[in-house]
This record gives sequence, C-alpha cells and structure tokens, in this order.
Amino acid sequence: APSDPDLVARARAAKEKLGDRVFVLGHHYQRDEVIEFADVTGDSFKLARDAAARPEAEYIVFCGVHFMAESADILTSGAQQVVLPDLAAGCSMADMASAEQVAECWDVLTEAGVAEVTVPVSYMNSSADIKAFTGRHGGTICTSSNAKRALEWAFGEGEKVLFLPDQHLGRNTAVREMGLALEDCVVYNPHKPNGGLTAQQLRDAKMILWRGHCSVHGRFSLDSVREVRERIPGVNVLVHPECKHEVVAAADQVGSTEYIIKTLEAAPRGSKWAIGTELNLVRRLANRFAAEDKEIVFLDRTVCFCSTMNRIDLPHLVWALESLADGTVVNRIEVDAETEKYAKLALERMLALP
Ligand code: 13P
Ligand code: SF4
Repeated sequence: APSDPDLVARARAAKEKLGDRVFVLGHHYQRDEVIEFADVTGDSFKLARDAAARPEAEYIVFCGVHFMAESADILTSGAQQVVLPDLAAGCSMADMASAEQVAECWDVLTEAGVAEVTVPVSYMNSSADIKAFTGRHGGTICTSSNAKRALEWAFGEGEKVLFLPDQHLGRNTAVREMGLALEDCVVYNPHKPNGGLTAQQLRDAKMILWRGHCSVHGRFSLDSVREVRERIPGVNVLVHPECKHEVVAAADQVGSTEYIIKTLEAAPRGSKWAIGTELNLVRRLANRFAAEDKEIVFLDRTVCFCSTMNRIDLPHLVWALESLADGTVVNRIEVDAETEKYAKLALERMLALP
C-alpha cells in the first residue's frame, strides 16, 4: 500500500530540519516506506562499517534490529547517539543465546578439556553480551558475507570453533566453503545438560554449533526448492546462508543480502530467479528488476516477513525523527562500557579480517 502522504511529508520535514546531524541506516529487510528515508542501505556487514562513517552526525537512526543498533553503538564514538525507532525490533535468533547459557557452555568445554583450543566465532546476529564473551575468549564476530574468512582465521588460531548462535550459517560455511564433513560438526543444545554432548563428542568435533536458527529462513524447505524448479524451468535458486543445510545444498547460489542484490544486478535479461530470504527485500527486487525483464519470485510463498524487522515502520520512524528534531533523544541504544570494550575487540577483529 502507498505510504500515508502526511507521514511522508513529516518524515521529510524532520530529516531536513536535522540535516547532517542525523544519519539514517537501513537494513535490506526494512519496509519500502522506511528504506525511502535511509541515507545508506546495506547488509549487516556494510551497515556495521558505515555506522562509523559519519562521525559528524550526532544521531544514528538505525532502521534494523536491536543487535545491529548495539553494534553501531559499540563501533561509534560516545558522542554519537544510536536510536532504534521501535525497541521491540529484536531478533529471535539473537535471543536464542543468553550470556548465562554461553558461560555455562564454556564451562562444559573447559570440563571436557577443549576450551583452550576452541575459538569462539559469533554471528553478528547476537547480543552485545555474546559479542563481549567472544572478545574475551579471543574470538571474532562474522556476518554472512565474511563467515568463511572468519572461520579460516579462527582455525589458524585454534583447533576448534564454537559457532554462535546460528547453527545453519556455521554448518553451511564449514561444509560448503571449508570442506569440513557434516560429521565434524556437533550441535550444542543449551537446554540439555552438557549441551546434550559427551566429552568425547566435544573432543572429536571441529565445529561446535550453537543450537540457534532464524525463524524466517528456517522455514524454507527442500520441497520449496523442488517445487519452484518444477514450476519455473531454468530457474536459478539463490538463498541466504541462514537457510538449512539441505536447502543450501540444493540451491544454485548462496550469499548475504548484499550478495543477492549484486548477483541480480549482474544477471542477464530474461533470467529467472527464486530467492530464499526475507520478503520485503525479495518484493523490492522483483519490482526493481521487472523492468529489466528478470523474473524474480519468492522461494516459498508460505514464508513471510521478518516480524521484528517489520516493527520499524513509517509511524515509528517519524516519531523518532521528530523527537530528535525537537531535541529529545528517544529509544537510545547504549551498551555499557565493560561490555563495549570486549565486544569492540571482537568486532574489530572482524573488520580486520583479510
Ligand atoms: P545479512 O548479513 O545478509 O544482511 O543478513 C542479516 C540478517 O539476516 C539479518 O537478520
Ligand atoms: Fe533475526 Fe531472522 Fe529476522 Fe534476521 S531475518 S532479524 S536473523 S529473525
């Protein structure tokens, strides 16, 4: 539906009044009505880098989810205030690993005698606490666009990797890109004693995968890949690495949101694509590339939006911008100094990856 013209005018006016004092970042999964007001758009990696790119902006309005806003706060100076237009924009995957559970897991690894040779690698989609844990134990953060480089680095530092919290990204990267076997990976279940693993299993494993997943990407299935191939002969299946291993194995290409966009930009006229990622992005791409005669469909019509990404809508954005324009900082995301110190260490290791 077209955006309410009154809200569009108010967002424009507030942004104009703020000028260079505000910098609006938008993740690719955001609604069209929000993306319209983003100064930059990107995948998680690009946005983490871009957050620090405008030090003169007093306010960073982060149109994305909570862990992204936290990362922006960690990577920018204290003079910049990060605002998340709706505090309910969390991430179900990030919520699957709490600081207590991860500390307990580390105790289990210590008990099994493997902690010393284990390097934590945490997906960007995790809380600042988990990032701080990662930094404290000599590990790095990764995103879907640099997971391979992060694992290569980690296996240079130690013998095993504890991958948090997305088991699928961890498994897909290890098996598809690093040549590990599926049997080299074990899943640590935080809801079971000792993660549901024996000390021997922990000693034998190369990848210890946290039992987390994305509730959106986890819904694409092997059947959806088969069905779309039948329905659209010649279709290229392109999916995000948060999808299950069997889906990724059956796809033609795999990559981050930024990779998906670049691939479609470079695709020849007349090509056909089924995309397995969040619906706002897929719809936007389908509309954008229809003019170039590229057919783009959603991989599975029963999967829907990321509900937390969708929490950021035009009314919330207008409220945040108008409040800032009036001198009130609302919904500030601020990581405490101790957490920030170690989380920053882990994030900076990622930014320094070759
Ligand atoms: P990208 O890193 O590909 O943007 O994916 C992030 C994501 O899934 C956010 O939930
Ligand atoms: Fe989290 Fe999945 Fe939504 Fe990304 S798409 S924010 S991983 S729930």
